Amino acid sequence: MSLPLTSPLLSKEFIFGVATASFQIEGAAESRLDTIWDTFCATPGKIRDGSDGKRACDHVHHWEEDLRLIRSLGVDAYRFSVSWARVMHADGSVNQQGLDFYIALLDRLNEYGIKAFVTLYHWDLPQHLEDKGGWLNRETAFKFRDYAQLVSRAFGDRVYSYATLNEPFCSAYLGYEAGIHAPGHKSRAYGKQAAHHLLLAHGLAMQVLDDNAPEALNGIVLNFSPCYPESDSAEDIEAAKMADEYFNHWYLQPLLEQRYPDVLDKLPEDEHPPVQAGDLAIIGHKLDYIGINYYTRERYQASSTELFEKLEHEQQPLTDMGWEVFPQGLTDLLLDYHQRYQLPAVYITENGAAMVDKLVDGKVDDPERLAYLQSHLRAVHDAAIKGVDVRGYFAWSLMDNFEWAEGYLKRFGIVYVDYHSQQRIIKSSGYAYRDFLLQKAQSG
Ligand code: NOJ
Repeated sequence: MSLPLTSPLLSKEFIFGVATASFQIEGAAESRLDTIWDTFCATPGKIRDGSDGKRACDHVHHWEEDLRLIRSLGVDAYRFSVSWARVMHADGSVNQQGLDFYIALLDRLNEYGIKAFVTLYHWDLPQHLEDKGGWLNRETAFKFRDYAQLVSRAFGDRVYSYATLNEPFCSAYLGYEAGIHAPGHKSRAYGKQAAHHLLLAHGLAMQVLDDNAPEALNGIVLNFSPCYPESDSAEDIEAAKMADEYFNHWYLQPLLEQRYPDVLDKLPEDEHPPVQAGDLAIIGHKLDYIGINYYTRERYQASSTELFEKLEHEQQPLTDMGWEVFPQGLTDLLLDYHQRYQLPAVYITENGAAMVDKLVDGKVDDPERLAYLQSHLRAVHDAAIKGVDVRGYFAWSLMDNFEWAEGYLKRFGIVYVDYHSQQRIIKSSGYAYRDFLLQKAQSG
């Protein structure tokens, strides 16, 4: 891996890291409450390989080894999420054992000089809250504030950066509108309702974080797939624009400009978000940074029945998820948003690829993943030299893990996990990342 010698990404301040999420790696389900993902996994047909997160990477029992692994990669930062269901009982009281787990992890990270990027919500809503409506229930936003309060008080100054939510689009759209993620509802109205309450939860939590962690960088992580029109026709261009507002700006514009995008006016009344007086001011709380997760782009064309029609990914190369490898999309997206908004500092909080990895003679050679990472780093560089204030980059993921509806079939790690022995094996992309960071440290 390499970058031009004068690249802003090679400056001392630029942060490189690896990322994970609680449900995807932790296991040890017996020592926490059930979450919506436990329920979803237990529902036949929802997870491609019929698996669940009960054991996953068994990180709760391997965390010390995993932190040594992270240290050995030479990263500046580790992004992980806290499981709400592990730190809080259903009555709102603290689960001290769960909290102590994260405190020990944070202490060890600090001892290693690795910055902790803590995500408070990476999709694993406690099931008892879903039983009361989950994100369809406005009350959940206030429960989330209480949870943020408990965690940020307990963690003190151990955290370098908090993200309130990870990818609210996925929680709201995939979980409540498309039904392919937990809790599996399928309703357009539900999608907007959930999204609004998630954004409200974010805003309420930001107030708490500003009080309890004033020194930390506090923000949110959003995922974006830039939307390209299939042709130059005015209809396709308009379709792509509406898709962009529906999937991307729906989350960003309320945060930065306290309003939903114009496409809102094209939706029937019963699909409008349940905005109450004062909500948008709460949602528009000042952000220290925005985390951007990028994997691929989407192409759209006009439709005679819907606002837009999404096209299949067909341009090679595709990753094992079937997603087009399109690094230019990351540069385009960063430059586009930089122009349209007053963006706060940006961190690329996730980027990576699932590839078909094979363990051969104890080794995993994954040149395609390496090429993916390399080309996307270059894409970040291209945006940075044009003025986008990008301050960090996290590879998704540290290690192979539970890939949601795909179960364990898709591997995103730069470290391979043998799920039977729980052995971790650094892939060649992981070694390349390490070598790149070593070189960066030596030249800096
Ligand atoms: C984004 C999500 O945050 C993460 O949980 C997931 O594994 C990756 N995308 C890959 O799909």
